Amino acid sequence: MEVATINFDRFNALKDEDAHARIRAARAKLGDKAVLLCHHYQRADVYQYADLTGDSLKLAKLASETSAEYIVFCGVHFMAEVADILSSDQQIAILPDLAAGCSMADMANLAKVERCWRELTEVLGNPDELITPVTYINSAADLKAFCGEHGGIVCTSTNAPTILDWSFKQREKVLFFPDQHLGRWTGYKQDIPLDEMLVWDPDQEYGGLTPEQIKKARILLWKGHCSVHQMFQESHIRRWRMQHPDGFVISHPESNLEVCKNSDYVGSTEYIIKTIKAGPDGSRWLVGTELNLVNRLAEEEKARGTIVEFMAPTVCMCSTMQRIDPQHLAWTLENLVAGKVVNRISVPPHEAEMAKVALERMLSVS
Ligand code: 13P
Ligand code: SF4
Repeated sequence: MEVATINFDRFNALKDEDAHARIRAARAKLGDKAVLLCHHYQRADVYQYADLTGDSLKLAKLASETSAEYIVFCGVHFMAEVADILSSDQQIAILPDLAAGCSMADMANLAKVERCWRELTEVLGNPDELITPVTYINSAADLKAFCGEHGGIVCTSTNAPTILDWSFKQREKVLFFPDQHLGRWTGYKQDIPLDEMLVWDPDQEYGGLTPEQIKKARILLWKGHCSVHQMFQESHIRRWRMQHPDGFVISHPESNLEVCKNSDYVGSTEYIIKTIKAGPDGSRWLVGTELNLVNRLAEEEKARGTIVEFMAPTVCMCSTMQRIDPQHLAWTLENLVAGKVVNRISVPPHEAEMAKVALERMLSVS
């Protein structure tokens, strides 16, 4: 007899302690059939159930290596898409709440990127011969497929410098989307002058640039950003350094150029965690990345007298990833126990094939 899907309504009103009890019971029943992958920004009450954690690059590799039938992704939509693309056809990627998107990823879409490519064709001739499209992994699968089809590649916050090198070996210019800040910081570190890295505004004709500007640019930076990391400002660092001249500042490269320039260390979420954990006992850190990660590190580092502080005066969490709460996780796992898959992330085959080309190019060079 066909098993009915358990409706989420019955879970929505669950008290947290009941949701936790049900997660533990369902998790035990699923055993090796399921693996829970958690991004470092995941809220603490879900992160505690992670089998494996990581930044986007590490999670992509873990998803390609696991043999579990169900990959339950506690992260955001693009991460679960990558897990689906890189895992086998028999494996199933699941996002416990489909509303867990990434606001930065939503700042670029295929229609706008294709229009950009058409406009670049008008100004430069065939862009396939002149421009390497590079998409940050924080993007929809169809944009990764676009890169796959046009000789381009995916990058993450960890491997962006290597990917930029690779891209310039293929062609003389780069179109980098959707995060202007990661693109600018990576180009800046490779000595590309700021006036040769121009912002492409997808809501204006020709990105708001003149033909001369487009011809001169080495990197066209898509006008996109992360709503969390845009909160961090150089003034926060300056003020903090006056009070703590011996402290260290560490930031994620989605922060703006001035924040990155004024940080002692810049890198991915995994890099931030490893660097602070390897720092001296009793040291003090100002961190420019998402609040759940910073709060967790602050708690873990207390024991050795290390102080970890959040860069912005306002609360800034990844509010979309936050939507994956114990209630959604309990609902997802109980359905799996009952033999029902809810919230499957399944990228259409042609898109997945071309997106995989761009992802595998990344994995082979990083
Ligand atoms: P990481 O790959 O560094 O974990 O970054 C992902 C992300 O979305 C940061 O906002
Ligand atoms: Fe996207 Fe920003 Fe959340 Fe990262 S922190 S997943 S870039 S919205």
